[in-house]
Parts: sequence; C-alpha cells; structure tokens
Amino acid sequence: MPEVRVVNLTKKFDNITAVDNVTLTIHDQEYFSLLGPSGCGKTTLLRLIAGLIEPTSGEIYIGNKLVNDMPPEDRDVGFVFQTFALFPHMTAWNNVIYGPKVKGFDMAEATTVGHEVLEMVKLHERLDAYPSELSGGMMQRVAVARALAAGAQLLLMDEALGQLDAKVRNEIRYEIRKMAKDLKLTGIHVTHDQSEAMAISDRIAVMRKGKILQIGTPQELYMKPESIFVAHFIGESNFLEGYVVGKTEDGNVLIELREDTKVEALNGSFSEDTQVVLSMRPETLIVEPGLEEGNNVLSGTVERITFEGANIRYEIRLDNEEMIVAVKPTLSGDWLKVGERTKVFLPVDYTHVFPYPEAGLKEELSVA
Ligand SMILES: Nc1ncnc2c1ncn2[C@@H]1O[C@H](COP(=O)(O)OP(=O)(O)OP(=O)(O)O)[C@@H](O)[C@H]1O
Ligand SMILES: [Mg+2]
Repeated sequence: MPEVRVVNLTKKFDNITAVDNVTLTIHDQEYFSLLGPSGCGKTTLLRLIAGLIEPTSGEIYIGNKLVNDMPPEDRDVGFVFQTFALFPHMTAWNNVIYGPKVKGFDMAEATTVGHEVLEMVKLHERLDAYPSELSGGMMQRVAVARALAAGAQLLLMDEALGQLDAKVRNEIRYEIRKMAKDLKLTGIHVTHDQSEAMAISDRIAVMRKGKILQIGTPQELYMKPESIFVAHFIGESNFLEGYVVGKTEDGNVLIELREDTKVEALNGSFSEDTQVVLSMRPETLIVEPGLEEGNNVLSGTVERITFEGANIRYEIRLDNEEMIVAVKPTLSGDWLKVGERTKVFLPVDYTHVFPYPEAGLKEELSVA
C-alpha cells in the first residue's frame, strides 16, 4: 500500500532520452495512469519503478524508502504485462503459487497464500484451468493474483487490457480498478487510450517525449488543459490561430483570428501582438442559425454532418475559411443540413488561450 515518488528521474538509452527528468508522487492506494502516445516513455518509467532497469539519474522511493539499489524482488511490486505473461503449460493455481515457491516458501505456506489470493480475485472455482481455457478478464485476474501471491502491494500494469477486445476491455477496466481499491493497493496503469485512462483513474499523468506535461484528475485535464497537446490528446478540441489585439474590461483578451474576425477569450495574461492559439471543446459551441449577431458570434456554412449516435457532429466552415467542429446531443433539437448557413457562438468561459508553439501548431498536434 505504498506511496511512490520519483524525483528528477532520467533514463537514457544511448542517444534516446526515454524518461526525461520526471518528478511525480503517486499516493498510497491511488489508482494512477500514465497516458501518452507510443514511444513517450511509459513502459520505461514503469520498468524503472519496478527495478527492471536502472535510472541514468534521479531517485525512486517506494513507501518512503529509497529503492534505487534494491533488487526488483524486494520492492513488493507486481508487474502485469500486456500479454499477462502467464505460463501456458501451468494451471491458474500453479501460475499463482509459482512466486511463493520461487521465494522459498514451504508448500503449506505457498498453498495458504495461493488460496487467499485466488479468493481475493474471485477465481477459486477455476484454479485447475489452463490459461488457454480462461477468458481475457480471468487471465488478467490470474496475473494479478500471481503478483499478489508474490507479495505485491504496488501493482504496475503495462497496457494490461491491450489484448482484449473493446467490449470486454470496457467491462474489465472497472473490475481491475475495483479490485485494486478493495485490496487497498496502489495501482499504476499504463495506457495510450485516453478514454480508458479517463474512465478508471484517480489521477492521470500525460506524458510526451519522456516528459510529464500535466498531472491531474480526469476532470482537471479535460476542463483545464495547460497545453495544446493535452487539450488535443484528452478529448477533442478546436484550435484557431490568432493574435492578441487588446483586453476587455473583464480582463479577458481580444483575439484577432484570420480575416479580421475578433473573439473574446478567457485569460488576460498575454500582451498585445502575441501570437496565440485559441482552443474550444466541440460540445461547448452553440450552433444555431437564428443566433443574433454579437460578441463571439461567427457565421459559417455546414460542410459535413456525422451522426455519432448520442451526438451529432457538425463541421462548419467559418466565413474566414477556418473549419470548426461542434457537437450537439442528438436529442437537442432540429438537425442542420449540409450547405446550410448558421451562426456559431463561442462562450468565453469555455475558451482556452495558449502561446503559439515554437515548432508550429501542426507539429504540436502531431501525436508523438
Ligand atoms: N531497451 C531499450 N533500448 C533502447 N531504446 C529503448 C529501450 N527501451 C525503450 N527504448 C526507447 O525509449 C523510448 C520510450 O520507449 P517506451 O517503451 O518507454 O515507450 P512507451 O510509451 O511505453 O510506448 P508504447 O505505447 O508504444 O508501449 C522509445 O524511443 C524507445 O524506442
Ligand atoms: Mg509501452
């Protein structure tokens, strides 16, 4: 049930910096996710915590103990791999008591532990089954049981749901969270699937290129993204380029978009002439042909409509030629038609303004 703390942790492989000066605290009994695109360093960070590889620099603490020099088997960490890595020729039971046996427990002791953990993960009735006879969810529970039997209090899961099909995955992700909570474990879950991380995590660290960009609850990351990348990677956002041309009495900024289109946006901390990116979530936009002209009301033409079930997605070509995406609940009213003229209102409270990225907006939005 330990707290995990990494301080200024760096891991280099030759000229690749896989983990770049990461500082992070995962609370006792927290269910925490590392989220980021392929190659951003998630697995490397997990392997560093588990002790499977050594850091280039920095410290790792588990339960307040510096563990840099501690071998993996003494860290009380259970690693659940993407493939679950069960021994295919062994029954669930033998997979589970493998750890205690290797650790030198006598048979009576190993048996007691084995029964305990299989009870915990509710797989007792299947202890004679081979992995190939179990469902994905069951295999995962065996993998967790095996980790627990070996003494794990910290559960590290690397894309542990990756092998399962979407429907099963959706069901199991809550189970594993619940199991970790019931057993009072600390869990670190690695995924590149933002909806999975959002659904099950107490908090999430969003990683990119070896660095942590932002740590927060799912709601914080969604409502208050601190970078273009986080706004883009978590959920969906519109991004419009512009320049700051003034301030409003409320302390907001006035931004000039393409073709002289001016909008007011939250955040007064940018000085005049700064190049910025304005961002808004698609569901915050109000799309109605009959809206009156006014502040933050733009005109455009519906270019494409996608029916998504619960929502309708409108791609609207604004009169300044920029494209904006708006999402409305299907039940919220009449559908617009392709080619129809409409107004789009950008509520100031849901706008975000970011400095224009050095490498350009396109590069910033590339998921790597
Ligand atoms: N043993 C290694 N030797 C050399 N380079 C490595 C090694 N392990 C990882 N890397 C590199 O470190 C970077 C981070 O890799 P890592 O496996 O941690 O990414 P990841 O976020 O887990 O990606 P994915 O989502 O694809 O699993 C990558 O550029 C990878 O090629
Ligand atoms: Mg990985």
